[in-house]
Amino acid sequence: MRERILAVVDELKRRKADGESEIVVSPASVAALRVAASARAGRKSDERPAAAPPVVTAREERPAAPPPIIPAREERPAASRPPPAYAPPPVVTARDEQPQPSYAARVTRPVERAAPPADAKLPPPPIFSLPEGDKLARWEWLRERVVNCPVCNANLNPGKQVVFGHGNIDSPIFFCGEAPGADEEKQGIPFVGKAGQLLVKIISAMGLTREDVYIGNIMNWRPQTGQATGNRPPSEEEMAFCLPYLRAQVDVVRPKVLVALGNTAVTGLLGPDPRRRLGAIRGKWFDFKGTPLMPTYHPSYVLQYGNNTTKRQIWEDMLAVMEKVGMEISDKQRGYFKV
Ligand code: URA
Repeated sequence: MRERILAVVDELKRRKADGESEIVVSPASVAALRVAASARAGRKSDERPAAAPPVVTAREERPAAPPPIIPAREERPAASRPPPAYAPPPVVTARDEQPQPSYAARVTRPVERAAPPADAKLPPPPIFSLPEGDKLARWEWLRERVVNCPVCNANLNPGKQVVFGHGNIDSPIFFCGEAPGADEEKQGIPFVGKAGQLLVKIISAMGLTREDVYIGNIMNWRPQTGQATGNRPPSEEEMAFCLPYLRAQVDVVRPKVLVALGNTAVTGLLGPDPRRRLGAIRGKWFDFKGTPLMPTYHPSYVLQYGNNTTKRQIWEDMLAVMEKVGMEISDKQRGYFKV
């Protein structure tokens, strides 16, 4: 038993080092571990009791003053890129999205990170075509469709809002997170809570404002936990349902670069790969349907576990993004967070 527990602890440490901030354990496994730990403690009182599994607590959501936000309502000057070359309008389909297997292995503290309802059953992901028209008209059409999506609305926490992407639809940089948290579902805008404040700091270190970039999420609703605080990762089914909406946003915005913030965004955008470790792939370029994609740490991970090395790593990823989109980088910027 001792070896098994130590093996579990080693695996959890390795995952944490790889950038995983949440581990989900089924309530049954937690109960079994507790029984094993107390039996062991009772049997051998001179031995250290088996360590409780290092279950990561839910991300803490605190009310936060929202940063100034300008909805991307008015038409902005066209980006320097050539106009999208696709006609007819792209058919956005989620039929080819792969389910994400890794969540079975992710575990949650039952009290703080309730699992999705056992009977959760979503209809198949939406299939739709973007309308003809200019960029803003297409974005607004999509936004209307998503905020009125009956499935998204049916899965909202009571009294909360669908969260659609936000920002500059002509931005060359598209940040993609996981799912709205409590602050976001209240305001209907992505990344306005603690993690959002850190994201805005990162964006401003790049010499940009939140209004200069586009920010979206894999999910358009906050996965229900049955509680006001605490989050849980979206299920495979939830992510598969929302992905066509994210893909359509990428089709409309046509950024030069996608920044995938954290494991869920990477898995949602690149598809599942149980061997993939964020710590090993961050800082390297990937491809999302023709758009270069940079995986990096989620701001929540940096808030919880970030040390100087993590901060420098995320910053190096942003330097690579800046270079990719042709931004000038000062020597001062190159030196930020050097360890
Ligand atoms: N975390 C996310 O991934 N997205 C948000 O919008 C907020 C927090």
